[in-house]
Order: sequence, then structure tokens, then C-alpha cells
Amino acid sequence: MNHAETYTREQALQLFYALHSPIYDATRWSFLFGRNSLINALPDLPPEPNILEIGCGTGKNIELLEYSFPDAHITGVDLSPAMLTKANRRADDSDRITLLQGQYGTDDLSLPSFNLIVLSYSLTMMGSNIEPILQQATNDLSKKGYIAVVDFHTTSFGWFKKWMQTNHVSMNGSLLPLLSKYFHPEHSKIRNAYFGLWSYFQFIGHR
Ligand SMILES: C[S@@+](CC[C@H](N)C(=O)[O-])C[C@H]1O[C@@H](n2cnc3c(N)ncnc32)[C@H](O)[C@@H]1O
Repeated sequence: MNHAETYTREQALQLFYALHSPIYDATRWSFLFGRNSLINALPDLPPEPNILEIGCGTGKNIELLEYSFPDAHITGVDLSPAMLTKANRRADDSDRITLLQGQYGTDDLSLPSFNLIVLSYSLTMMGSNIEPILQQATNDLSKKGYIAVVDFHTTSFGWFKKWMQTNHVSMNGSLLPLLSKYFHPEHSKIRNAYFGLWSYFQFIGHR
């Protein structure tokens, strides 16, 4: 992917979320399934763990992570200033939360090493060149660090796939095999949504 294409995707997503951020939390519960149960299925982490959510959006998962890991420091990265404004309000000046604006995989975010990296419905919005992003996540994980992912898997309905594409989401079933290539799987599940209109997956693995 050349720089011009990267810039276009970033700008398109920023515009999309400038429009969607006001209704994001009120609407996404009805189709971004498996987010809460992914956090509930996370393994124990060492004391005072460092956690990263890539594409943290409005900070919904960060709030749950803060509750599940009361001694953790949590970093959220997102490319959308509008979504981060919401996340900032939710974080309410907590000194356990750091929110950064930037495009993971492209921008140099000078991140430390993490015990856990969470990707919740963000990988399917990162375009077709996912391997450098997974490589970056591998580099950003500590030696025994975990990665936890929930995202759209696939659909047998062409019209739905196209509709999701117009909403910047690629649903081609390729993520789960790729994740297993980069990380040792500990928990991997595929579930149907709306009687099989689409499927979504959860994956927890370690380096
Ligand atoms: C569908 S939202 C998911 C938000 C949140 N993780 C959740 O589960 O509600 C996807 C988010 O990923 C962000 N995003 C997409 N590609 C990104 C990238 N390369 N770096 C950082 N954020 C990205 C978008 O701006 C958006 O806020």
C-alpha cells in the first residue's frame, strides 16, 4: 500500500467517524457482538499490566478493562479525533488511561511493550494489508503477552459484504487464519449473528 492510499483510508475513516461518533454507543450494541464476552474470557495478567487497545473508539472496552484489571495501565489508540473525544470524556481524567491519536501500523506512536493487546472490530477496518499490522502488534507485545481480537468473520451474502464494504469493513474470513499464523491460539470461536446473516469471531492467543 503506498502512502497516498494510506492517507485516503485514514481520511475516509476520520470522516466516517466524525459522522457516526454521536450515535456510535447508542447503535453498535445491536451488531458488534462478542465484545463483553471477549473481555470476560481474558486470562490473568501479571501485576500492574500494561494493556493496549488498538482502535479504541469511544472507550467502551477500556472502561471494562479498567474494571477487570484494577491495577492496569491502559493505552487506547485511535485515528479518529471524534471517537477519541468521546473516549476522553468516558476516561474522566483517570491517571490509569492514556489516549493517543494516530494510525496504528503507519504512524510512529513510540509505544512501550504491552502484556495484552486488544483489537475489537478494528482489524476489519484496516484494509487488505493486515500482516504489517500484526507484525507491529507482535513487536509491541511483551514476551509472554496476549492478543485478544473480536471482529466480523464472513458472510455468504454478497449484498451484505458490499454494504459492509461501503462502511469500510472487509469481511472475507481471512483474519482468523492470519492470527493463528502470528500468535499461538488459546481460545478461538466463530459465532453466527442474526441467524447466519454474518459470522463473527473471537481469538485469544499469545506470542
Ligand atoms: C468499529 S470501531 C471499534 C471501536 C471499539 N474498539 C469498539 O469495540 O467499540 C473501529 C475503530 O478503529 C479505528 N481504527 C481503524 N483503523 C485504525 C488504525 N489503523 N489505527 C488506529 N485506529 C484505527 C477507527 O477510527 C474506529 O474508531
